[in-house]
Amino acid sequence: MAAPSMDVLTSLCKRRGFIFPSSEIYGGFASTWDYGPFGSELKRNVREAWWRRVVWERPDVEGIDGAILMAPRIWEVSGHLASFTDPLVECKSCHQRFRPDLLEENRCPNCGSTDLTEPRQFNMMFKTFVGPVEDDASVAYLRPETCQTIFVNFENVLNTARPTPKLPFGIAQIGKAFRNEIVTGNLTFRTREFEQFELEYFCRPEDAPRLHQEWIQERLRWYVELGIHPERLRIRPHEQKELAHYAAACADIEYRFPDPLGWRELEGIANRTDYDLRRHGEGSGHPLEYFDEATGQHLVPYVIEPSGGVDRAVLVFLLDAYDEEEVRGEKRVVLRLHPLLAPLKVAVFPLKRNVPELVEMAKGIFGRLRPHMRAIYDDTGAIGRLYRRMDEVGTPYCITVDFQSLEDQTVTVRDRDTMVQDRVHVDELLLYLREKIPW
Ligand code: GAP
Repeated sequence: MAAPSMDVLTSLCKRRGFIFPSSEIYGGFASTWDYGPFGSELKRNVREAWWRRVVWERPDVEGIDGAILMAPRIWEVSGHLASFTDPLVECKSCHQRFRPDLLEENRCPNCGSTDLTEPRQFNMMFKTFVGPVEDDASVAYLRPETCQTIFVNFENVLNTARPTPKLPFGIAQIGKAFRNEIVTGNLTFRTREFEQFELEYFCRPEDAPRLHQEWIQERLRWYVELGIHPERLRIRPHEQKELAHYAAACADIEYRFPDPLGWRELEGIANRTDYDLRRHGEGSGHPLEYFDEATGQHLVPYVIEPSGGVDRAVLVFLLDAYDEEEVRGEKRVVLRLHPLLAPLKVAVFPLKRNVPELVEMAKGIFGRLRPHMRAIYDDTGAIGRLYRRMDEVGTPYCITVDFQSLEDQTVTVRDRDTMVQDRVHVDELLLYLREKIPW
């Protein structure tokens, strides 16, 4: 089936504890969202999958975890104060504000008026004040992209990572970014507070075009290997006029979102040239260079940047995993999440909750699995109901302790996707699950 509508997914997210509107008991707040018990696990797993692939599995990438507040001068030097803007028009009738490029026939989507102000540039950075005095000297900004923390730490990482990095090498980071977006919506697709995973992969200028292509393919592979339908992904190179002020080339990995969104950016992979290191070198008076032992010369590396949104990736993993089918005349909703991403890896049930031996054995198994993987014990419904609930949150395996278990110490392990049940000895359960869920 095609990806579900945003409404269907939003309702599942609320009902099953993935994503709630933030500040809900106060009526919500400005397109902000909170992740619930299952959403927060899923999001952690997405971060973890990215970090493992981009940092742990590579000998040439180091990680950092930088501050959200940074010296305001950084945003001047990076070009964000001047150029990180969106055009904005205001309807003279109802005073709503819009991005003109998203309007049809230059008409206010709220009241239909065509009497709009001329577009003006609106800077998307959130301002705040540091310290007790709210004056111009204490203005600071919440970072609108995480990568600037990486650029300004280039030398610190070069000097401290062991062994000393040699080109090409990367610095990776996962963290919050903030943008005062004019248009938000579609659940977590575009919000004002969001998380990014960004890699800055430094290289010699002549290697940049090749490495750009390699990273585009590598990032596409990551999504496909984590279960995204390949036919719902595509690569879209940017046209010259779309390029950000720092980029020589960029390609987006796009996902086919449900209508009316359609094909939209999931992750961007840019060739940022030496723009950022050079600018910060000049702006700080502290050159950010790499000493090339082979030539005995200093050079400012180019950088390839795969930059994705954690929240947007979570949204795509949810949309893409959603499935409905008919089983024995009833609708079954199942999230076919990759086991590495699934919020719960396993659920343990006793066949009957009023048989103490079954309950005791099931709780014992739960206790043995719990230190190794996210697991739950549940006995609050009939087995069929418990299976359906776990299908809806994407739990790949359900273990049931039945009367045979009391005799031969085997239990059933039900596969979420096929609904086929294996009988496995309790002593082999951990190994059985480990093989199916590698970490
Ligand atoms: N450092 C480059 C950079 O920030 P970007 O294309 O503006 O590039 C990268 O952002 C990714 O961050 C996007 O592909 C998207 O997944 C995510 N992202 C950007 N703005 C977002 C927003 N307002 N809400 C949610 N995710 C966003």
